[in-house]
Amino acid sequence: MTYINDNYLKLPAGYLFPEIGRRVKKFCEDNPSAKVIRLGIGDVTEPLAPAVIQAMHSAVDELAVRSSFRGYGPEQGYDFLREAIARHDFQARGAEVGADEIFVSDGSKCDAGNILDIFGDNNVIAVLDPVYPVYVDTNVMAGHTGPVDASGRYSGLVYLPVTADNDFVPELPRQRVDLIYLCYPNNPTGVVATREMLKRWVEYAGQNGSIILFDAAYEAYITDSSIPHSIYEIDGAREVAIEFRSFSKTAGFTGVRCAFTVIPKGLKGNTRDGRQVAIHPMWNRRHSTKFNGVSYPVQRGAAAIYSPEGKQQLRETIEFYLANARLMREALMKLGIQVYGGVNAPYLWLKTLGNLSSWEFFDKLLHEAHLVGTPGSGFGACGEGYFRLSAFNSRANIEEAVKRFERIV
Ligand code: MLT
Repeated sequence: MTYINDNYLKLPAGYLFPEIGRRVKKFCEDNPSAKVIRLGIGDVTEPLAPAVIQAMHSAVDELAVRSSFRGYGPEQGYDFLREAIARHDFQARGAEVGADEIFVSDGSKCDAGNILDIFGDNNVIAVLDPVYPVYVDTNVMAGHTGPVDASGRYSGLVYLPVTADNDFVPELPRQRVDLIYLCYPNNPTGVVATREMLKRWVEYAGQNGSIILFDAAYEAYITDSSIPHSIYEIDGAREVAIEFRSFSKTAGFTGVRCAFTVIPKGLKGNTRDGRQVAIHPMWNRRHSTKFNGVSYPVQRGAAAIYSPEGKQQLRETIEFYLANARLMREALMKLGIQVYGGVNAPYLWLKTLGNLSSWEFFDKLLHEAHLVGTPGSGFGACGEGYFRLSAFNSRANIEEAVKRFERIV
């Protein structure tokens, strides 16, 4: 007899995005002439920056020659990349992060799930609702929850609602929680966290001995200079927070794969017998045991985004996506649709039309306008009645999507 991890049986059959993909595939098979525009999963459409391509080509050429060939790299990432990250993403913004506190990886989704390896099973875990489903599903897989209810909520998790009623600003938990997932700019709502809001969370975590898992995958989309890009811009955050960052949406690396996680050296957790233990060596142990590093050409490509020309090229692409978001936002608002986000983020969060449920609205858009978005309820019970649109697409498709919206409203 071989036993399985029963916790997987608590999960709905499919992860959100593959489930959408399945429904869209079926629709396309049944309607082969339909020109479907995909604004569902946040997947980039624009090519890599020339500076990135050039750096990757050179790196491949190095691998072609015995004298510059490289095999296994450091599991934590090459120094050239870790140092560039520390300097440009953190120190330049006044955030104290050292190169040796950065762990380069193949994705924030993986890191956000894998991080649970080093935490105990007895933590009280808080997530926003709606939320990026990976935080919830990986806790379910790890056995940190009970069963799911009809609304999609798992017992054992603390859900913090974010809806139009509280301007998408979560209240601090009423009970003590140990691990808190925060994602800003937020996926799915596209709203940002002010400095004051992050200060409140850092204070809360400090007072309660909690750790914040801060996902900043969309920080490159922040245009408002008063909004922090990193939680380490807040005093005290080094003692209470881990930050996840990704090159996916920043540099178009969704297919290339490169990200990193920051674990400050002073961050500590507790053993069951009450001793305080540093988290950094634990993650280092986990990372170097289960991961062999990101490929050399990819890390060279990632490092190229910090060159002056790389920065300029990336800025242009991000502004292109933000202009897509603005175009959709303004057009949909003109149609009387309530729209949130889409200013410092590539996602727009809408109220569905005519009080349709999120999935009813998904079907309406798909069948009547051949448009794909993401049903808000897929991100949690409080996402019901909302819908997410991604601004990652060509300008022609965004303009066409807007016209199709005009036809169905
Ligand atoms: C999303 O659409 O929410 C993201 O693309 C998913 C991800 O980054 O894994």
